[in-house]
Amino acid sequence: MPRIPEDILERIRDATDIVDVVSEHVQLGKKGRNFFGLCPFHDEKSPSFSVNPDRQIYHCFGCGVGGNVFKFLQEVDRVTFMEAVKFLAERTGINLPERSGPSREEADSADRLYRANDLAQKYFHHMLLNDEAGTEAREYLLARRLEPETIERFGIGYATPGWDGLLKAAGHRDLPPQIMEQAGLALPRQSGNGHYDRFRDRVTFPIANLSNRTIAFGARALQPDQEPKYLNSPETPIYHKGRVLYGLSDTRDAVRRQDSVIVVEGYMDLISLVQAGIEHVAATSGTALTEDHCRTLARYAHKVVLLFDGDAAGSTAAMRGLEVLLSTKIDARVVSLPPEHDPDTFVQEHGPDTLLARAENAQSVLDFYLQQLALHHDLSSVEGKSRAVETFKPLLTKLDKPQDAIRRDLLLREVSQRLSIDEQALRDEVKASVRHPRAPRRIENEPRQAPLPDPPKLELEFIGLLLNFPQYIPDTAREFAIETLTDPRVQALCRMLFNRHAENKTIDVGMMINELDDDTLSRLITKCEAEGFDEEQSEQQWRDYLRHFQKKSNQAHIDAARQALGQAAASNDEDEIARISTELVQLNRQRQAFVAEQNS
Ligand code: UTP
Ligand code: MN
Repeated sequence: MPRIPEDILERIRDATDIVDVVSEHVQLGKKGRNFFGLCPFHDEKSPSFSVNPDRQIYHCFGCGVGGNVFKFLQEVDRVTFMEAVKFLAERTGINLPERSGPSREEADSADRLYRANDLAQKYFHHMLLNDEAGTEAREYLLARRLEPETIERFGIGYATPGWDGLLKAAGHRDLPPQIMEQAGLALPRQSGNGHYDRFRDRVTFPIANLSNRTIAFGARALQPDQEPKYLNSPETPIYHKGRVLYGLSDTRDAVRRQDSVIVVEGYMDLISLVQAGIEHVAATSGTALTEDHCRTLARYAHKVVLLFDGDAAGSTAAMRGLEVLLSTKIDARVVSLPPEHDPDTFVQEHGPDTLLARAENAQSVLDFYLQQLALHHDLSSVEGKSRAVETFKPLLTKLDKPQDAIRRDLLLREVSQRLSIDEQALRDEVKASVRHPRAPRRIENEPRQAPLPDPPKLELEFIGLLLNFPQYIPDTAREFAIETLTDPRVQALCRMLFNRHAENKTIDVGMMINELDDDTLSRLITKCEAEGFDEEQSEQQWRDYLRHFQKKSNQAHIDAARQALGQAAASNDEDEIARISTELVQLNRQRQAFVAEQNS
């Protein structure tokens, strides 16, 4: 249960437009009163994710997720409720009440990890700009031709050579070494106790999530012989390198505008391109492109251009990234730079227009992929061919959903032609490996569990009606027994509606979601909410629902009573027989009344 008073939550929510917040993550288009876009929580090709600006809620008709703006941030940024509230409070300039001690929720929340990274970011940046110790780093960046505005824009910093500069600064701000360790910013000493700073004598590049919060760092050595060249934050509860794309929090508007994104491999590549005026860029950081990356990119643009370093194109990581792209529907292209170049040096030497021209004429991913296969396998030998097929097979077997059939077909044909293999033989081989699949690869953090089976449709609609027209709640509460509903989840929602009404609280889906700690209920409630109702017919509809449930309940009671009567008769329990008979008379009268009503 949130500790923040409901009126403050309400103020924050009133001051926030869910459409704005969602737009930062999803490309939305207006359709009627609502906005639609591709759901950020599951993979889809046509938009079934809706945002309702009137009710300030979202709902996905595809995977069933739904909630208010807090819920959205919780899910999309994987933060706690409190963090989502804080984030929006800050954004809207609403003060949250101070609390005495840290709550448990806060203690084990990601909030401190964000604070730690935020502090580190400010600390490193300050050191770079102002500290004596930062001189060499400043010169280094100058030599790499970074302008002061660029350094500012990307929050570049410098971690000093000392062992505990950051740890000390953190200590002053109530961030103990344990938290710094969890945030990936400090390491425990091997011998004895204590901690030391992870990043030392390195230029730091803060990595931000799409809510613009620093979640990790990439840190470059200043000296050529310093190993490794780049040291990155480890994975933490808030940082998953397979999910985040460096720079995108800054460049996504440009990406959206261009409907195209250039993907590079390095921090410096991204920064250099942006400085040169090419702003629709994102960077992977030390990983191959993942499915999560592709999902994220697909939300902002339809086209992806992979820009490979001259020497990197054939690497295993690069090939894996290509396979991921091949298994998606994104229009993906590849540019491979000359061997001596990476995007940074290329744009510095040849200028942005030359680079853009190359991106314009980029090769398709499939072409490029097959070309690489041919380069790395001797396709004139049987053995070489069969190794090439082995490389390619996992991708083909991955395309196993019905909607992939056409793509798989095309790929099979292309591959067999390119490798001059009999198409049917290739098909057979792929089929064989589908039948004996290797252990399925667990993808970390799969989008979302399948939604639970829904409660009876009518029960949901009924709650939806009450939500849309709360004026019927008092009468419903009087005439209607919650137990009449068969689904316990719908019962819980109904009880909540009655309670809120009894306590004079507003009946507002958004606020109710805050009160629900159950995810399923949140989904259901937005689902109910999304049902369309007609104001004019609402009263008739309400009566119809009410009658329907009363009849059903009446019938259920009759059935139960009859059964009980049979048992009482069997055991000759006269008292019980008399009691149930009276009850049955009542129930039957009620039923006749319903029938009469229907016929009138
Ligand atoms: P590169 O070695 O291509 O370096 O690594 P770069 O980006 O051109 O960097 P500069 O120009 O020499 O400064 C590409 C990316 O791979 C990751 C980093 O994300 C880097 O930006 N990487 C590289 C590491 O994580 N660790 C390393 O030791 C090297
Ligand atoms: Mn480089």
